[in-house]
Amino acid sequence: MNNPAPLQPTPQPALLRVLAGEPVWPPPIWLMRQAGRYLPEYRALRAEAGDFISLCTTPALAAEITLQPVDRFKMDAAILFSDILMLPWALGHGLRFAEGEGPILPTVSTQEHLDALDLARVADAIQPILETVSLVRAGLTPDAALIGFAGSPFTVACYMVEGGGSRDFVATRTMAYSRRDFFAALIDKLVAATIIYLEAQVVAGAQALMLFDSWSGVLPPGEFRRWVIEPTTRIVAALTERHPNVKIIGFPRLAGTMLTSYMATGVAAVGIDTSTSLAVAGELVPTTVALQGNLDPMLLVQGGPSMLREIDRIALSLRGRPHIFNLGHGIVPQTPPDHVAELVEHLRRG
Ligand code: CP3
Repeated sequence: MNNPAPLQPTPQPALLRVLAGEPVWPPPIWLMRQAGRYLPEYRALRAEAGDFISLCTTPALAAEITLQPVDRFKMDAAILFSDILMLPWALGHGLRFAEGEGPILPTVSTQEHLDALDLARVADAIQPILETVSLVRAGLTPDAALIGFAGSPFTVACYMVEGGGSRDFVATRTMAYSRRDFFAALIDKLVAATIIYLEAQVVAGAQALMLFDSWSGVLPPGEFRRWVIEPTTRIVAALTERHPNVKIIGFPRLAGTMLTSYMATGVAAVGIDTSTSLAVAGELVPTTVALQGNLDPMLLVQGGPSMLREIDRIALSLRGRPHIFNLGHGIVPQTPPDHVAELVEHLRRG
C-alpha cells in the first residue's frame, strides 16, 4: 500500500512561539520602525512614490518596503508598512504628511466632525493596505511572522483632536475632562474602526497584531483606565472572540506602574519602553505574558561596545521568560544600518 508521506508540521515562527508563552533562546528580534528613512533602499522607493500616503496605499511598494529590513537583516518578523494615522484617513478624515513637520490633520471638536467619521467606508478604503498584507505574507519565509498593527484609540484621538503632533496634547487631555461624553464617543468610534481594521488584517494574513499607544503615559491612573485599558480590552476581546489564536502585543508607552492594570486587557505581550526597568516590568507582568523591548534607540545610533553590552544585559535578564527583542521606541533616521546588522548578529550568537 502506498502510504502518503507523513505531513511535516509547518514550523512555527519563533515570534509566534514566544507569543504563545514559550521562552525561546536566543530571543526573536524585530525593531519598531524597522522600515524607514535610515535605510537607503527605503529613501529610494519613498522618492519614487512622491508622498508617504501614496507609499502606504500602493501595495507593491508598501510590500517591498515591509520586506526590506527582513531581507537585509533577517528579522524574525515583518511589520506591515503603514501608519497609525491611516485609520483616520480610512474614516474619511483628512491627512497629510508635511516634509519635516510630521502629520497634519483637521481637528475634531464638533458633533459634525464626529458624525463625518464614516465607519461604512473603512472596509473599502483599507483594501490597498490589506493587499499589502497578503503580498507580504506570500513573500515571507515560514520562519518569519507578519505583524499587523493599529494605533490605540487614545493615541489616534490625540492626533485627531490636536490636528497633528503636539508636545503635551493639552486640547485632548482637557477635552477628556471637560467634554467627557464627546471624547467617549470619539473613542467608541475609534474602537469600532480599529476592530474592523485589525480583523481585516488578520483575514488578509497578519499572524500577530500590535497596538501602539505612544501617548498613554501622559494619563493619570483613572484616566489611563478609562481611555487606555477599557478601549484596549474591548478591542482584544472582539478580536480574540473571532480569531482565538491571534495574539496581540500592546505598547502602552510610558505606562510605568500602570503596566500591572494594563494586563487586564488580555494582551499576549507587552512592549516595554526605554525608561522602564526590566526587573520592575518583570515583576509587574506575569510570566505568561511576553515582554518586548527595550533597547534604547540611541544606543543603536551609537553602536559599538556600549550597545553590545546592553544587548547582553537585556537578553540575559529576560532569559527563561518569553521575550521578543526590540527597542524601547522606534528607530530614528540617524541610525547607521550597519549597527542594526551588528545588533542582530550579536543577539543570534546567543
Ligand atoms: O515600524 C514600522 O516600520 C512600520 C511602519 C510604521 C510607521 N509608523 C511608518 C512611518 C509604524 C508602525 C508607525 C507607527 C506610528 N506612526 C506611531 C506609533 C509608534 C511611535 O513611533 O510612537 C505614531 C505615533 C505614528 C504617527 C507618525 N507617523 C508621525 C508622528 C510621523 C512623523 C514623524 C516621523 O517619524 O517621520 C509619521 C510618519 C512615518 N510613519 C514615517 C514612517 C516610515 C516617516 C515618513 C517619511 O518617509 O517621511
